[in-house]
Amino acid sequence: MGKAQLSPSMMCADIFKLGETIRIFEKHKIPYLHIDVMDGSFVPNLMMGTSVVKQLRAFSSLPMDIHLMIEDPGDKLEWFEPQEGDYISVHAEATLHLQRVLAKIRDLGARPMAAINPATPLSALEEVFPDVDAILIMTVNPGYASQELIPQTLEKIRRLRTLLDERGFEKTEIEVDGNVTLENAVKMRKAGADIFVAGTSLLFRPGNIEEHIEAFNREMEKGSR
Ligand code: DX5
Ligand code: ZN
Repeated sequence: MGKAQLSPSMMCADIFKLGETIRIFEKHKIPYLHIDVMDGSFVPNLMMGTSVVKQLRAFSSLPMDIHLMIEDPGDKLEWFEPQEGDYISVHAEATLHLQRVLAKIRDLGARPMAAINPATPLSALEEVFPDVDAILIMTVNPGYASQELIPQTLEKIRRLRTLLDERGFEKTEIEVDGNVTLENAVKMRKAGADIFVAGTSLLFRPGNIEEHIEAFNREMEKGSR
């Protein structure tokens, strides 16, 4: 198992402090910026458009982890100008042709990730294991920050890790998104998660962001001993 990685949920950041926050992430070698894209149809909210992504790319070279919570993502991928090193995730529930969309993400030069909602069974993804570098397990229903963890998703992470390993996909990463508190992150890590989307429950909770990053790293190191 590789190092536990943080992917800060930028929709939870204070927009008036965005620049300094991103410099902190660069200083701490945070591997990704998590960008939630919502269309008001696949999820009941609107969030983070293409111009935000463009401005962030001009400001920082940190790779992006773009989470598309939109209907028919396949014909909108180019809007985000995918870059080498980026992850782009699409929901199994949002397209009839998941394998085609994942292949297109790879063709565009980014790393494909397939996402599923809490109620969607893992079997929705089994046939695309060869087509992804990561799988995103939603641990809340997507659309809003500050929701409560859906407890059965912990067992789902564990089953996914076992299934991936059994089928020879040991390198495929598991990302978790929703109510990743320090306490939940420890449980998610034990279950097999690699990338932790950090929103209002972790990095953007009250207090100091650098201290929150350090607390996360300390907890994760404890777990690996
Ligand atoms: C939706 C978002 C939320 C949120 C995560 O996909 O990614 O899950 O920002 O952060 P929390 O749940 O901690 O507010
Ligand atoms: Zn997300």
